[in-house]
Amino acid sequence: MKDNSINMYHPLSITDSVYYVGVNDRRKSLFENQWPLPCGVSYNSYLIVDEKVALIDTVDIGLADIILKKIESVLNGKTIDYLIINHMEPDHSGSIRVIRERYPNIRLVGNAKTLDMLNGYFGITDGVQEIKDGDELDLGNRRLQFFLTPMIHWPETMMTFDEIGKILFSGDAFGAFGALNGGVLDDAIDTNVFWDDMRRYYACIVGKYASPLQKALGKLQGIDMEYICSTHGPVWHQNIAHVLDLHRQWSLYQGVPGVVIAYGTMYGNSEQMAEAIAQGVVAGGVPEVKLYDVARTDSSFILSDIFKYSGLVVGSSTYMNDLLPGVDSLLRKIETRGVKNRIFAAFGSFTWAGVSIKKILPFAEQLQWEIVGNVEEKQALKPVKYEECVALGQQIAEKIKGK
Ligand code: FEO
Repeated sequence: MKDNSINMYHPLSITDSVYYVGVNDRRKSLFENQWPLPCGVSYNSYLIVDEKVALIDTVDIGLADIILKKIESVLNGKTIDYLIINHMEPDHSGSIRVIRERYPNIRLVGNAKTLDMLNGYFGITDGVQEIKDGDELDLGNRRLQFFLTPMIHWPETMMTFDEIGKILFSGDAFGAFGALNGGVLDDAIDTNVFWDDMRRYYACIVGKYASPLQKALGKLQGIDMEYICSTHGPVWHQNIAHVLDLHRQWSLYQGVPGVVIAYGTMYGNSEQMAEAIAQGVVAGGVPEVKLYDVARTDSSFILSDIFKYSGLVVGSSTYMNDLLPGVDSLLRKIETRGVKNRIFAAFGSFTWAGVSIKKILPFAEQLQWEIVGNVEEKQALKPVKYEECVALGQQIAEKIKGK
């Protein structure tokens, strides 16, 4: 019996002859098995139909069947000539083998590092085409130009530019968590649901690679782009300037006025200190304050706000002569990302031996942050230390306003 479902997808068009054939994943709970996906994620793939047909990236293997159906609905039996591999992480490369089985004459296009990974992940060494930085690929009426942009987010990552459509296929750069809700072009959808999850995506996935991102932004200067097609989230068209500006700020670790207070607490005493510091910050004239108990909020959301705001305060109870594990883990994640340029303070409480402050301060010193001060309390929070916490919050607010 003929399978009529194969052509049921209406091709979502980006521009003339460029189609969105990506998929939504609303079932995966943890991206990279680490980062929560309360609103899902999209794996974006694009099909350019010219005299030659090029597919840009694939999708997670779990959704290979859907991308195949979408491609077929566009091509109606025509074949694909090239698969451009901008990134080899399995959320995008996972369906390469399946695509090649369906389109056996397809040529896999990537740089030397891509081809090495193709061999390592899939044992594929034939039917490949190596390109170098600046090389072009002729599709007939349009040419694709390749920019090597290593470490956004792996060593092999590159971007592909379609000069005719003025479309940049940017790989992970400029991506966002969050599945697409019926549309892909930013002109046609509510983008407000993506901004926070774009920063969370940046903080978790790309944030460590600020310097490579700055280099890539430099390389893109002067390129006349009308569309940015990332591997995750919306296609940017009317918001390109805003998206580029946000990434420029984040890659320079430029925080906006505001304070994250992240703490670990066992019986609420350190938490009372956090509340008092927050009170001081607001009284000092900085209204944006985010309090996070590290045991309650996933670190991805805390990291996201740490990338947003210029002030950070970290506190912990002393636990087994050390920090609470959740606080220690958060500090390691910040350290890994090399976050720069923060106004900082520390606090903590203990019952018989104070250790937490001694552990937190060297962390901030190593990152060369501006340390405003610290408060430590033995056992319950008492009036003197309460006032010190409020005063510390006010001092932080003054520093932030003076920046
Ligand atoms: Fe979306 Fe680095 O992969």
